[in-house]
Amino acid sequence: MGKQDDIFSAGNLSGLPFSFNEEVTEVFEDMIDRSVPGYKTSIRLIEYYAKMYSQDNSNFYDLGCSLGASTKALLDSIQNKNIKVISIDNSEAMIDKCKRSFVSYIEDGYLDLKLEDINTSEINNASVVVINFVLQFLDVEKRDLLIENIYKGLNCGGVLIVSEKIHYESRRESESMFLLHHKFKAKNGYTKMEISAKRDSLEGILVTEPELVHRERAKRIGFRVIDKLMSNLNFSTYLFIK
Ligand SMILES: C[S@@+](CC[C@H](N)C(=O)[O-])C[C@H]1O[C@@H](n2cnc3c(N)ncnc32)[C@H](O)[C@@H]1O
Repeated sequence: MGKQDDIFSAGNLSGLPFSFNEEVTEVFEDMIDRSVPGYKTSIRLIEYYAKMYSQDNSNFYDLGCSLGASTKALLDSIQNKNIKVISIDNSEAMIDKCKRSFVSYIEDGYLDLKLEDINTSEINNASVVVINFVLQFLDVEKRDLLIENIYKGLNCGGVLIVSEKIHYESRRESESMFLLHHKFKAKNGYTKMEISAKRDSLEGILVTEPELVHRERAKRIGFRVIDKLMSNLNFSTYLFIK
């Protein structure tokens, strides 16, 4: 585990919009674990379902890989099937740190790490694509195009595993989940001030959608199976099968 996240603690407030810069990269593992309920379970689900749906001689993609927690789950799921993992992020700090952690996998040809905008990435011959808590950071109007691009690059029977923070159609439910999530972060040691400063910094940067929007997008694009694998407070993981 890297350094403890105290980016939003008192006296340390930049007031700038949130970005995946060097400062965030340094504390990212601690930050995501203490902020996202079910994060570790999402990583275990990725390994489990990648094993189940992997196809011989195909590619796995991890889009928005950060420090490579999902990438590691994908690598661990490979069972002599001639699979290449391609992991992509547009944060230089994240990709640089990731490169240092995965040297042997890169040298042995199992992993390709790319500094790239996933909106323009090529997806080819894929049996498993992962987008774990990333879609929420993309412009809403670009999300359909990205999922369409993934769909086109998936082989028949291939899967897309998506995790997202969601909001609810009902205001009451959204508010109640918001309070529970606040309690989750407080229990994990964040102060009221840190929670509120981070919320301000993420305003307009992390834009959630309701579950129905994710399901309808996947259906419209052509996925034949749309399953929810996990839901933990206002965070969910889905499996879409082509
Ligand atoms: C919450 S983190 C993802 C966590 C990671 N998938 C995991 O499972 O640990 C979001 C990541 O998406 C990346 N990202 C956001 N927009 C992107 C884009 N347009 N292209 C590539 N990466 C992007 C950020 O740099 C950041 O590293």
